[in-house]
Amino acid sequence: SAEVVPQAPEDPMFGLSRAFKADEHPSKVDVSIGAYRDNNAKPWVLPVVKKADEILRNDPNLDHEYAPIAGIASFTSKAAELILGADSPALKEKRVTSVQTISGTGAVHLGALFLARFFPGTKKVYVSNPTWANHNQIFSNVGIPVAQYPYFSKQTKGLDFDGMKAALSEAPERSIILLHACAHNPTGIDPTLDQWKEIAVIIKEKNHFPFFDSAYQGFASGDLLKDNAAVRYFVEQGLELVAAQSFAKNFGLYGERAGAFHFVTSPAPDAPETTTRVASQLAILQRSEISNPPLYGARIVSTVLNDAQLFAEWEENLRTMSSRIIEMRKLLRAKLEELGTPGTWNHITNQIGMFSFTGLNEPQALKIREEAHVYMTKNGRISMAGLNTNNIDYFAKAVDKVVRE
Ligand code: LMR
Repeated sequence: SAEVVPQAPEDPMFGLSRAFKADEHPSKVDVSIGAYRDNNAKPWVLPVVKKADEILRNDPNLDHEYAPIAGIASFTSKAAELILGADSPALKEKRVTSVQTISGTGAVHLGALFLARFFPGTKKVYVSNPTWANHNQIFSNVGIPVAQYPYFSKQTKGLDFDGMKAALSEAPERSIILLHACAHNPTGIDPTLDQWKEIAVIIKEKNHFPFFDSAYQGFASGDLLKDNAAVRYFVEQGLELVAAQSFAKNFGLYGERAGAFHFVTSPAPDAPETTTRVASQLAILQRSEISNPPLYGARIVSTVLNDAQLFAEWEENLRTMSSRIIEMRKLLRAKLEELGTPGTWNHITNQIGMFSFTGLNEPQALKIREEAHVYMTKNGRISMAGLNTNNIDYFAKAVDKVVRE
């Protein structure tokens, strides 16, 4: 009977969000969940998304029939070009198969499920320490044990590159290596392209299997090609790999769950046939889990990606979001330095993407919530998009206070 079911803890991320909503303090600041906010702390519907929505609503031929199991082809094909590059050798050689998923989470899950089923030699997935908390439970849920590689250096508040390389070299052959394609969550620290090259060498030598999670392409730097450089490089090196792709952040389509999973087979004369077999198995897995992916978000993305003018507008919207975040980084660092807050704050402008790993520890993160009604995750991560010109003074002062206590 259900009496044996133990109580599970609330999801820390969405629990924090719930607590923020319930807080009635007028100066409360939400820097918890990674979701873009405008300068008034409001969600932002991208103007290009509004346009695509208008186009769809005026299309007399749209119906609500099932999408194919692998999703809307005009969506997945453009999604693949976006993450791999339109001129990708893998696309030219027909060794990519793509499946529309329930955003990035669904893509990570489908990939994990597929690897659990078909890569029996694989014993473990290695994730960065720290990583997005959900990575751990998604892989555990499909029975793949999770191990960690060092990533964040507490000393430099930058990448622990030596630690990372050593761990990848010592991991058993054919391990799955989970990599954040850009804008690492939660640290905001990415390897440089030269460091990615060294990582690729180790992965190749050890026959590891790279698993990219790409949730911030274009959102991180405002430049779509810069933000997929690591994935493109790995493909150029002939590595077999998979990529989970989310359109939640870069299209502001959080709740619509538009995403894709891409499997890139390594170059070989029979790669197209291998890829077809992979696609057939992914279809079976998808069918048993969700049957067909949802239409709306993918239609919006497809409308934009398939139209040159809308695409250019989307890039403009991406720059609006990324540049506001970069401005907030500069402002926050300047304010903390002006206040003389103990410690160094250059890491705030060195990090990129949605998040800053402030260096605040767990007691400080809890204290700042209690005393100043500032909601950050307990690892000291803040969503930069939660800051704006109206609350940044208050936020900086609250950080200053809690660091001095
Ligand atoms: C985050 O890390 O805040 C976002 O990716 C939202 C989530 O699902 O945790």
